[in-house]
Formats: sequence, structure tokens, C-alpha cells
Amino acid sequence: MSLALATNAGVRPTAELVAKYDGRAPRYTSYPPATQFSAQIDAQTYGLWLHDLPVEQAVSLYVHIPFCARLCWYCGCNTRAVNRHEPVGDYVRLLLDEIALLGAALPGRLPVGAIHFGGGTPNMLSTGEVDAIFDRLGQVFALTADVDVAVEMDPPC
Ligand SMILES: C[S@@+](CC[C@H](N)C(=O)[O-])C[C@H]1O[C@@H](n2cnc3c(N)ncnc32)[C@H](O)[C@@H]1O
Ligand code: SF4
Repeated sequence: MSLALATNAGVRPTAELVAKYDGRAPRYTSYPPATQFSAQIDAQTYGLWLHDLPVEQAVSLYVHIPFCARLCWYCGCNTRAVNRHEPVGDYVRLLLDEIALLGAALPGRLPVGAIHFGGGTPNMLSTGEVDAIFDRLGQVFALTADVDVAVEMDPPC
């Protein structure tokens, strides 16, 4: 999945949370982690979950850009090295379609508290592609000027 949606907007780390999770744990980069994925959660179940989201509650969005110019030897991320831009452009077109499909399944234009771009390295995107993603997100979600936007990246890529 290239686009994920979560309803944890507004949750901030506290000393209690940090103490609770201050231990060794498996590295996972999504919640629920991939080990919890199963065929029991099918498209119909996912569709019902989306449809039942409260329209007034802010959601958080995660946009995955799985491309890098070269791979770091230790990398455990979901990414691949590309030496031309075409696969990135193809992926962005599919991502825009997926955002539209998500919009059709939601009960309305949900407010957004946070958007996180991860990868891979989202600086593989052109400025035009970033604009297109924000335009499409703005058609589907109620984006406000104070939305928290974060991006993880490897600048040399
Ligand atoms: C998901 S990566 C993507 C962002 C960007 N491309 C980068 O390298 O910072 C974000 C973080 O995951 C870390 N990472 C990658 N592979 C890892 C691994 N096998 N174990 C632990 N951290 C890892 C990277 O060092 C980086 O800090
Ligand atoms: S830049 Fe980040 S995502 Fe890309 S290969 Fe290196 S660690 Fe992995």
C-alpha cells in the first residue's frame, strides 16, 4: 500500500509513554505491523472501516515513496534503487489514483492533522509531482494551512 491513514492525530509523546515503550522491540515501520496483516482483513472490511470513520475527527496520512538513487548497505526499508525517473512518475500516477479511490470510500472530506512522507527517499519526487500529490489530497481531504507536514529523506539521493 502506498498511502496509509491513521486516526492518532493529536497524540503526543509523554514521559509515561516513553517509559512504557523504552525497551527492545522488533523494528517495524507501519502500524499495524506487517506481521499482523492477514487475508481476514479483505477489501470489504477495509471499505467498511473507511466508511465508518467520524467525519469531524482529524486523521493522519502517510505517503510512501519507495525509491532511492542508490541503496545503503544496511537498508531495511521498502524501497528500490532507480537510475531514471520513469518508474517514479508511473508510481505517482498510481498514487494519485489511490488517493481518489480512498476519497470515494470515505464518508466525507475528513480534516487532516498530519501528513508524513516516507520512503525510500521522497526527495526523489519532482516539485511538480509533490504539487500534484498535494492537489489530489486537497480534493479528497479538508487540508488546513496549519497541517503538520513532515518528510524523511536522504538529501544526496
Ligand atoms: C525509513 S528510512 C527513509 C528515510 C531516508 N531515506 C533515510 O535514509 O533517512 C528512515 C530511517 O530508517 C533507518 N534504517 C534503514 N534501514 C534500517 C535498518 N535495517 N535498521 C534500523 N534502521 C534502519 C535509516 O537509517 C533512516 O534513519
Ligand atoms: S537512503 Fe534511506 S531508504 Fe534509501 S537506501 Fe538508504 S536508508 Fe534505505
